[in-house]
Amino acid sequence: MDVFEVMGTCRAIRQLKPDPVPPELIDRVLWAATRAPSPGNSQGWDFVVVDDPDARRTIGAAVREAMVDRVAAMPRPDRTTRLMLDGTARLVATFDQAPVIVFVTGGVIYPPQAPREAFTWSALYPAAQNIVLAARALGLGSVFTTLHHVADRTIRDTLGIPDHVRIAATIPIGWPDDGVQFGPVSRRPVEDFVHRNRWEGDKRGIGI
Ligand SMILES: Cc1cc2nc3c(=O)[nH]c(=O)nc-3n(C[C@H](O)[C@H](O)[C@H](O)COP(=O)(O)O)c2cc1C
Repeated sequence: MDVFEVMGTCRAIRQLKPDPVPPELIDRVLWAATRAPSPGNSQGWDFVVVDDPDARRTIGAAVREAMVDRVAAMPRPDRTTRLMLDGTARLVATFDQAPVIVFVTGGVIYPPQAPREAFTWSALYPAAQNIVLAARALGLGSVFTTLHHVADRTIRDTLGIPDHVRIAATIPIGWPDDGVQFGPVSRRPVEDFVHRNRWEGDKRGIGI
């Protein structure tokens, strides 16, 4: 699949079948993650790949407990928000069903003489995006989440991730559930974001 098609149809897939994913496909996704760019090619990432049912159950229960009521109570003023929050509600309710969950983590290690937090995130986000794109290219659904924030202690204790290691993304991966499809992502036109040769002002009326 052409990379532009992958990017253009890489919708967040929040409902996954519990069916197992062949390990070789996950290996390809992890290969893609480790091909990402990073500051000074520091490659300061560690991917914690979880398919153990007990660990998924423990983490899923913590996510559910923290999020189910919170998401249910969030206002849904428009269709886009409603679809996203309804999807998030299903995601948190069934989090442990995802056959694989990848935690994108890393230490504050760059530059070695004076490590800075910003460089950690700048390495981890491209790697996380490569995971999502590679999964899509293989027909696997995934979604970039920050759900580790609501279950940080449980995740660290369950997986043995040290407190000094940052967690940038929690990405469930699996086959899209019945009725859930990849399709064109909904984004504003390119010209709403592009300034040619010089800053052209607040293009989207967002107060910048
Ligand atoms: C940094 C980041 C954090 C995100 N966190 C969450 C999350 O915690 N839960 C969730 O359901 N989706 C999360 N998403 C997915 C976005 O909501 C989604 O990409 C966006 O709504 C656009 O939808 P689309 O990817 O289907 O086009 C996150 C995406 C990014 C880039």
